[in-house]
Formats: sequence, structure tokens, C-alpha cells
Amino acid sequence: MGFSLQDIVVLLFLSALMKADARVTAVDSESKRTLLANGLGITPPMGWNSWNHFSCFINETLIRETADALVSTGLAELGYQYVNIDDCWAEQNRDSEGYFVPKKSTFPSGIKALAEYVHSKGLKLGIYSDAGYLTCSQKMPGSLGYEQKDADTFASWGIDYLKYDNCNNGGLKLMERYPRMTRALMRTGRPIFFSLCEWGDMHPALWGAKLGNSWRTTSDINDSWESMVSRADQNEVYAEYARPGGWNDPDMLEVGNGGMTNDEYIVHFSIWAISKAPLLIGCDVRNMTRETMDIIGNKEVIAVNQDPLGIQAKKVRMEGDLEVWAGPLSGYKTAIVLLNRSLKPSPITANWDDIGIPPKTVVEARDLWKHETLKKKFMDKMTVSIGPHSCRMFVLTPLS
Ligand SMILES: *[C@@H]1O[C@H](CO)[C@@H](O)[C@H](O)[C@H]1NC(C)=O
Ligand SMILES: *[C@@H]1O[C@H](CO)[C@@H](O)[C@H](O)[C@H]1NC(C)=O
Ligand SMILES: *[C@@H]1O[C@H](CO)[C@@H](O)[C@H](O)[C@H]1NC(C)=O
Ligand SMILES: *[C@@H]1O[C@H](CO)[C@@H](O)[C@H](O)[C@H]1NC(C)=O
Repeated sequence: MGFSLQDIVVLLFLSALMKADARVTAVDSESKRTLLANGLGITPPMGWNSWNHFSCFINETLIRETADALVSTGLAELGYQYVNIDDCWAEQNRDSEGYFVPKKSTFPSGIKALAEYVHSKGLKLGIYSDAGYLTCSQKMPGSLGYEQKDADTFASWGIDYLKYDNCNNGGLKLMERYPRMTRALMRTGRPIFFSLCEWGDMHPALWGAKLGNSWRTTSDINDSWESMVSRADQNEVYAEYARPGGWNDPDMLEVGNGGMTNDEYIVHFSIWAISKAPLLIGCDVRNMTRETMDIIGNKEVIAVNQDPLGIQAKKVRMEGDLEVWAGPLSGYKTAIVLLNRSLKPSPITANWDDIGIPPKTVVEARDLWKHETLKKKFMDKMTVSIGPHSCRMFVLTPLS
């Protein structure tokens, strides 16, 4: 036959190339095949949610007063715009035509009227359902099998955000459940932020951006230091997957609920902010202490969260309980959190090598909690002492 060894080698090489090329093309079209195109979540969502403080003890008065308080405290102006109702807002049974019925004893005016009220304050209303037969409380139905009906209902009420939980799912695969709601929401024509609450079981960071605007990477948070830092860690693993339009979600804030010290809540808020997590307040904003307001109302920390680059910080160095978290911001700035997880104070060093600043660069450091720019300039590294269960957060700006 006419084939030389060299021909065969060339043929094998070409066929390998073509296969590789086919693979690239497949991956490429896959990433374009996104069901969700609602234009929302260009920066991480900010707002409030009823669950962490009130669990099922909610009603329309509480939701209205919360909307009022977001405005009167100035939180709305800082960007907290979503007022999100969590579980327990509906009657146990659907009506005879299969539609959700707002719970008569607690939401007697209905959700549409509530949405109108919240909108009149310049805010947005969020609601909750579940990719299963019942929600987690089991006090109301889930949306499985009723996706289009429920999405149409939400749209007709003027809902702006849907948190979609994962309880009582009958063992059906998530790909048989979550994409149905994505499609249903898209069909309504109303842009509704879609928050996937799959608890991180099946690595939602790997597929969430096609279906939702955010995806929970963890099970539920509680109001303790251990719970908070473990959620921060689990969420950090997926940093590469966060981007404008789709965010990792380590769960809602506990700041102000009383289970942590003030320093611990500052760590909570700093790590959530630098991780580009949704900033959903979980306390009673009608009755906050000055300390709570100073944390969730810190403009400079919020600005890191809302930076247009939308790049989630990573834990770039860890020595025992001492950690450096860092991520780039627009304008060649860098945000860092120096975190002391131990019960003893200690100095922590951020090396330019670790945090991605070119060697020899001189930077100015803005302390986001003290609200001051340090007089000292730093080159190649910066060392500061940090108290127990505490952090400091800086924005570094290159001077050269
Ligand atoms: C509404 O809920 C709040 C928070 O649980 C509660 O304090 C209040 O008494 C409730 N109001 C009504 C009218 O049920
Ligand atoms: C909170 O979470 C932590 C860590 O995940 C756990 O050890 C603790 O038991 C939880 N506390 C409550 C009250 O559920
Ligand atoms: C307001 O918050 C304080 C603690 O910060 C608490 O003791 C008090 O009971 C709260 N009041 C209401 C009406 O919830
Ligand atoms: C962290 O806190 C511990 C406990 O107070 C302390 O001994 C240690 O020096 C602190 N670390 C830093 C880096 O400040």
C-alpha cells in the first residue's frame, strides 16, 4: 500500500487534532446553551430575607415594616433592594385550579398588593418555592409539576426574585427539576432573579450559571462562628465559577442576630463581601443596634462586593489559623482580608507574590473598617496584627 510510516504518523496526528477540535467546539456550544438570559445579577444581589431571624413567623405587616425600615435606615440607598419572603407564605393546599393561595391568616391582602407596596418604596419583592412536592417547612406546596403555573403567578404578582429550595423532591434528579423552573421563568417574559438553593450537593457551581443567577454552595448557615467560617471555606473552593450574572452563594447573613461577637460579624460580612456573595441581611432591620448598622452599612466594604469586575476572592495563603484572602478589583486595585481564626492575636503578612501584585509595587492601603488610609506605604508585603476571631480588610492601590 502507498502509506509510509511518516504518512501514518501525520494521519494519526491530524485525526487527534480533529478530535480535540471537535471537543473544543462541543464545550464551546455547551457553554453558550444557557437557559437563563434575564440580564440580572450583574453584581451580587443585595437585600433582606425573612428566614434567618423569623423562620415561619412571617406576615404582611412584617414585610411592609421591613421595606419601610430598609428605606428609613438608609440601607436601601446603600443597595439593599430585595425584600425576600422565605418559606411559609402560602396555604397548605393549592386552589381548585392548581394555583398557589397566599396564606389567609398572615397575608390577607395577597402578594400582589404587597409587591405594589414594596415597589412603591423603590424596592423589589422576592418569594420562595421549592423544586419538590412540598417546601422544607412542609407547610406549603412546592412547584414541582406546577412550574409554569407558579412562574406565571409570580410574574403576574410582580415578583422580582425567586429562591428555589430542594426539599421533598421525590428523589428526582435535579436536572429534571431546576431547568423546568428556569424555562418557566424565562417564558413569563418578566426578569426574575433566580436563586438556586440546591445546598451544594451536586457542585452547582459547575452548572448553575446556565440555570440561575446564584447557587447555594453549602447547606444552611446558623448564627455561630463555626457554621459561618465553614460555609466561607466550602464556598471558596468554587471561586473560579463566580462571575457577573452568576454567583456562588454561601447562604444569607446572620449579622445582627446575636450569636456571634461584633468582631466575628465583621469577619462574616468581610468574607461575604470579598467573596462576591449575595448580601442578604438576615436580622430584624426594624430593630438593629448601631453596631449592626455599622457592619451591614459599611459603604467601602459593600463597594468591594459590588465592584464591576465581579471576581471572587480566594484564600491565597494559610498558616495555621492565619489566612490571607485576596481578589482583584477594577482599576488595578486589590482587596484583601487578613483573618485570624485562632483565639490568640497574631501578626499576619500579605505578600505581593501571594495576592497577585507585581514585585516592587508600592501601594497605598485603605483600611475599610477604620475608614482611614494608612500613612505608611507598602512594598512587596504588608504585615498587620489581628486580634482573635477577627480580621482587617484593605483595598490596596498601586502608586507606581
Ligand atoms: C407579624 O410577625 C411578626 C414577626 O414574627 C410578629 O412580631 C407580629 O406579631 C406579627 N403580626 C401579626 C399581625 O401577626
Ligand atoms: C450550627 O452549625 C454548627 C457547625 O455547622 C454546628 O456544629 C451546630 O450544632 C449548629 N448549631 C445549631 C444550633 O444548629
Ligand atoms: C430589639 O432588639 C433587642 C436586642 O437588640 C431586643 O432585646 C428586643 O427585644 C428587640 N425588640 C423587639 C421589639 O424585637
Ligand atoms: C490571632 O489571635 C490570637 C488569639 O488572640 C493571637 O494570639 C494571635 O497573635 C492573633 N494573630 C494575629 C495574626 O494577630
